[in-house]
Amino acid sequence: MGIFRTKSISELLQGAEKKGLKKSLGAMDLTLLGIGCIIGTGIFVLTGVAAAKYAGPALVLSFVLSGLACAFAALAYAELAAMVPISGSAYTYTYAALGEIVAWIVGWNLILEYSVGSSAVAAGWAGYMVGLLKSGGIEVSKAYTAVPADGGIANVPAMLISFFLSLLLVRGTKESATLNKILVVIKLAAVFIFLALAGPKVNVANWDPFMPFGFSGVAAGAAIIFFAYIGFDAVATAAEECRNPNRDLPIGIIGSLLVCTILYIIVAGVLTGVVPYGELNNAEPVAYALRSIGYNMGSALVGTGAICGITTVLLVLMYGQSRIFFAMSRDGLIPAGISKVHPQYGTPHIITIVGGIAVALIAGFTPIGIIAELTNIGTLFAFAVASVGVLVLRYTKPELNRPFRCPAVNIVAPLAVISCGYLMYNLPYETWIRFFVWSGIGFLVYFLYGKSHSLLNKSNKTA
Ligand code: ALA
Repeated sequence: MGIFRTKSISELLQGAEKKGLKKSLGAMDLTLLGIGCIIGTGIFVLTGVAAAKYAGPALVLSFVLSGLACAFAALAYAELAAMVPISGSAYTYTYAALGEIVAWIVGWNLILEYSVGSSAVAAGWAGYMVGLLKSGGIEVSKAYTAVPADGGIANVPAMLISFFLSLLLVRGTKESATLNKILVVIKLAAVFIFLALAGPKVNVANWDPFMPFGFSGVAAGAAIIFFAYIGFDAVATAAEECRNPNRDLPIGIIGSLLVCTILYIIVAGVLTGVVPYGELNNAEPVAYALRSIGYNMGSALVGTGAICGITTVLLVLMYGQSRIFFAMSRDGLIPAGISKVHPQYGTPHIITIVGGIAVALIAGFTPIGIIAELTNIGTLFAFAVASVGVLVLRYTKPELNRPFRCPAVNIVAPLAVISCGYLMYNLPYETWIRFFVWSGIGFLVYFLYGKSHSLLNKSNKTA
């Protein structure tokens, strides 16, 4: 058996704990779940960088491009998610479809999505927290709130929140649907307050020139603000708990993407309409825009809502990170010791803490734009491979039970691959280098450890 050995779907399902989750979620719950995981640092922070450095006011078009890629990827992804509804997401699905080494490298890049993505979200959180403290009269020295590249020593608030949340996760915070709904409402309220206050102050002169960096700027903007959509995969992973996945899953996925895309487009339009786009490259552009048109109180309100919203996204990402490690170590590809479950709390405490420290270190010392781009390339890669997996499984294992079938899969899956590939292509050269280095290290780890320790070695011996 070589490096392309696959796991059978039944093996995968046996490997997972059989929890028999309650099928309680409908289309509306799924849409809210999606919005809860999606809206965060992307809209509240990265819109500023993307408008100032890449797209200008045409950022609205970037959001459309990126949203389309997500819609294709999400539909294809949902088929796999419904078929193999166990933790590990694209990693697990690829194991069944394309074999161990591809799964390993997808999982390795998902670690990038979750760990590095958490760092970017923590940095976004810190930007709003520092801004809020400042409006309350508490000024923290730049040395402790900025990364070295921006003239500071470390982003200490970002480090603290990462570490604090990892401790919380060790104690086992259950994703509560009610809490999620409350936070979604707060988050949406922040967005609507911004739109209500800033909307009437739009000065159309700020939209001219609309596309200062040309279409290549729009595409580069789409590649970076893809980050704002990350999290839509969470809807797909709830497949097992849906009352009627075939109907509700696509509604939930497309619904949450649609709501977010519309909100993002309006926010981007208003943001670049009230402030010249060149001024938006700062740590809290949405609050900044409100302050600059004289709404100090409104700015503080929106800042508070943003902090709440970003905290939930961070919690979900850090949770996801530990579960990917967990899935990979369950398969023997990384040492089982690191995903040991805490005897009292029942959570993988070692990896959660180690992961939290890694997130804190990255967030403390790396500029947010760089980490967001790195997150995107890893995630886009994982989605592109998973979409290939959907097609492969349709042909190699047509008999499998598919609770949800991707509509027009022969068109949607290739479109997902092409559009994710296109966004990857538009990421900076340095991001590609980092991606290759990260993947190279991944291959080394696989050949030095994973290949010989994979549980599939055992099942083949006994077979
Ligand atoms: N989509 C999430 C955010 O923007 C990751 O924070």
